[in-house]
Amino acid sequence: MTDESRAALASSAPRLDLDLYADDVLADSRDAFARIRHRAPAVWLPRHRMYAIGRFDDVRAALRDPETFISGCGVAANRLSNRLGRGTTLFSDGRLHDSQRRILRQQLGPTALEEIQPRVEEHAQRIVTRLCRRDSFDVVRDFSSELPIGVVAELVGVRGGSERMLRWAAATFDLLGPLNRRAVAAMPTSLGLLLYTLRFSTARVSPRSWAAAVFDARDRGQITTRQARGLVIDFVAPSLDTTILASTHLLWVLSRHPDVWAEIIADPSLIPAAVVENVRIASPIRGFTRRLSRDHEVDGTPLPQGSRVVLLFGAANLDESRFPNPESYDIHRPNGAHVGWGNGPHACAGANLAKLEMQALLRAMVPHVRRMATSGPTRLRNNTLQGFSGLTARFN
Ligand code: HEM
Repeated sequence: MTDESRAALASSAPRLDLDLYADDVLADSRDAFARIRHRAPAVWLPRHRMYAIGRFDDVRAALRDPETFISGCGVAANRLSNRLGRGTTLFSDGRLHDSQRRILRQQLGPTALEEIQPRVEEHAQRIVTRLCRRDSFDVVRDFSSELPIGVVAELVGVRGGSERMLRWAAATFDLLGPLNRRAVAAMPTSLGLLLYTLRFSTARVSPRSWAAAVFDARDRGQITTRQARGLVIDFVAPSLDTTILASTHLLWVLSRHPDVWAEIIADPSLIPAAVVENVRIASPIRGFTRRLSRDHEVDGTPLPQGSRVVLLFGAANLDESRFPNPESYDIHRPNGAHVGWGNGPHACAGANLAKLEMQALLRAMVPHVRRMATSGPTRLRNNTLQGFSGLTARFN
């Protein structure tokens, strides 16, 4: 019997018979999130043989306690992916994690971002100018994907490019859920990314790219080949879909709040708050799991050592006890800091890059777009990601 199965038998937390990965729940998780939050600080989900934590304070406390809630045994909801993902920063703890974060910072830290900012802003202006001339446009393809694909994918430097990165990334997020139909279908594509990194050589990455920098670090002996492969996955997997989903939601939410857009036009210094509040209500990553290194109580609910726990960022960000009127888009929230980019040592290494991209788009829109209209939102179904997979818009 595995530790996780033993933990299941020892479970005394309140149970909730809920399929967190059913099609309708993936399309809109808000009801499921509320049921989890309202039931108890931690609930046992028998269908997935894991606990779920959905209240803001408890999710944040878990993220800040990496010695109890460990990532080194994986952050997926299935054992296969937890084995396959070893070597990435996301799936590491302690000193190993610190050393990989240091390498990521060289590409994603403030100095590196300052360097690419002019390029991102110019590109954003070209996108907006082009879209202003159109009667209507496909938001995902023409607005949200342009910067991640046109700038970020190029910086990452995977030869053969952005299309491959997009396919790999969406499949990898599906594979981080339980081994359901969706995860099994995603497996061949997601394995393509692993295979790419296994055949990894400098000839397969663009010179002076982030991936090339990772190889250089390996050649200097700073990291092992296995760590280098993990770091390339760290750049490829989380950098596209997350930002694309957040940007699509940003346009949708602003089209529904013309008053907020008018405020931003009058005072563009509100742009950073508009971007942060959007990621709170959109939370592109629904949640990741951890494994408990020891017995632990979550606000009085006991959880046994060895159990798997899903930390629901999306549920925490809609917790009414932290965010009054949580579903309303309020860029003036006095206490608006959230966990959409995580928290603690594993907090998103690319958050400032994602913010830079979205802020650049809004800044480019301010002088040209008075009003925007959106229609036809289609909801994505993915084991880990949430948001709109389709949306049409018009700028006036
Ligand atoms: C709106 C866009 C984004 C969202 C919502 C997002 C969300 C997150 C979240 C919630 C985590 C925490 C995972 C955990 O605690 O287990 C995370 C980690 C991470 N993200 Fe992002 N992310 C975004 C964009 C990006 C971008 C553009 C990159 C660029 C490469 C990136 C790279 C990473 C990496 C490398 C980690 C792992 C950090 C670690 O384990 O120390 N993310 N992200």
